[in-house]
Amino acid sequence: MPASHSFVLTGRLLTFFERPQSVEDHEAYAFWQDGAIAVQDGKIVWRGDVGDLPGSFANWRRVDRSKHLVLPGFIDAHTHYPQMEVIGSYGAQLMEWLETYTFEQEARFSNIDHSREISSKFLDELIAHGVTTAAVYTTSHPASTDAFFDAAETRNMCMIAGKVMMDRNAPETILDTPQRAYDESKTLIRRWHKCGRLQYAITPRFAITSTPDQMAVAQSLLQEHPDCFVQTHLSENVFEIDETLRLFPKARDYTDVYEQFDLLGSKSLFGHCVHLSLRERSALADSSSVAVFCPSSNLFLGSGLFDYRGLLDAKVRVAYGSDVGAGTSYSMLATAADAYKICQLNNFSCNPLESFYGLTLGNARALSLESEIGTLEIGSDADLTVLDSRATNAMATRMRSIESLSEELFVLQTLGDDRAIAETYVAGVALKSSPDLSD
Ligand code: GUN
Ligand code: ZN
Repeated sequence: MPASHSFVLTGRLLTFFERPQSVEDHEAYAFWQDGAIAVQDGKIVWRGDVGDLPGSFANWRRVDRSKHLVLPGFIDAHTHYPQMEVIGSYGAQLMEWLETYTFEQEARFSNIDHSREISSKFLDELIAHGVTTAAVYTTSHPASTDAFFDAAETRNMCMIAGKVMMDRNAPETILDTPQRAYDESKTLIRRWHKCGRLQYAITPRFAITSTPDQMAVAQSLLQEHPDCFVQTHLSENVFEIDETLRLFPKARDYTDVYEQFDLLGSKSLFGHCVHLSLRERSALADSSSVAVFCPSSNLFLGSGLFDYRGLLDAKVRVAYGSDVGAGTSYSMLATAADAYKICQLNNFSCNPLESFYGLTLGNARALSLESEIGTLEIGSDADLTVLDSRATNAMATRMRSIESLSEELFVLQTLGDDRAIAETYVAGVALKSSPDLSD
């Protein structure tokens, strides 16, 4: 790792305190048009108006990004690194997509060299897109998890990941057994959980690929390691729901399968949650579980329309995820753009400030990481995204008639991708930097 150093970065700073209720909700965020952030040893030690910068920072190296927006690094609450070579697989909905394309690719991750290569490419892609934290599925092979954590540690990134547990309804080459899932997860938890900026997620893939015996293993692991995350899929596709209820005939509904094994809770991340009943919404809300909205994936696989507003009204904690490789973009800007379109189909126009809250502080809160990441608060880790709202010809032209911050954010969300990410800082180190920017 390059040594972390002290510097003052000037730019147009945006950080959130609460979920903005409208574009007029100025209490929900702070915006400094002429802002400055002082970074030391990977942490934010001061931020505010550049005119108020204390004299003690006067001699620090200056990094001038004054034309750019500077936000906390984006956070992706649901993604699959072994699916890099699955993105854009044609013509299937969930179960057929898994069986035709996805399981075959995941089988390749028994090989440590392949796991290392793709882990590296995947994290580089996240950095290119300004994503500094993610909750990541590996495969059932422990080597795939070791390779991923290794690559994240090398980059000093704040990452959550876990070995996928699956012991039925998939090819032998990607199955484990309840005992192996227990032993391998246990070893990985001891090795990686809370190792630097890394945390472990107990990861039963979904109810269809785990026997009741394996679900009981997930339950034991969580009892033994209550500060680990849980991540799984829930209520994504109507055929998936029918099949789940056939496999677990005593369950009241899909959510109840996980409830019966005590897997709901404040560190439990449920991907998709597209077709939840009122009872299931209450169960998620009462347990402080998180529903992860994966709009790009839901559109691509034709899974359905996530009821963003309805879930928030039911007091469910909601996060955003790319769900690569059913999701088709690593960009959280593109994810927010797809989320907006799904909300439109549900007669709700999510305001751009709320979207950017979601990609930063909202997702940090969903991952219970808001004291470390997701804001520009003093004491936070200096994970930063530097955005260029005029990165492309189309964006620059559109920006000519923009008059407010929320309009600018909406342009970034609607037209932006990795080209709009000028720089990405991870714990104070620029892992993406633009040749056009000089220090
Ligand atoms: N459900 C179970 N596994 C998966 C997966 O890999 N992707 C998606 N989108 N849904 C799933
Ligand atoms: Zn997924």
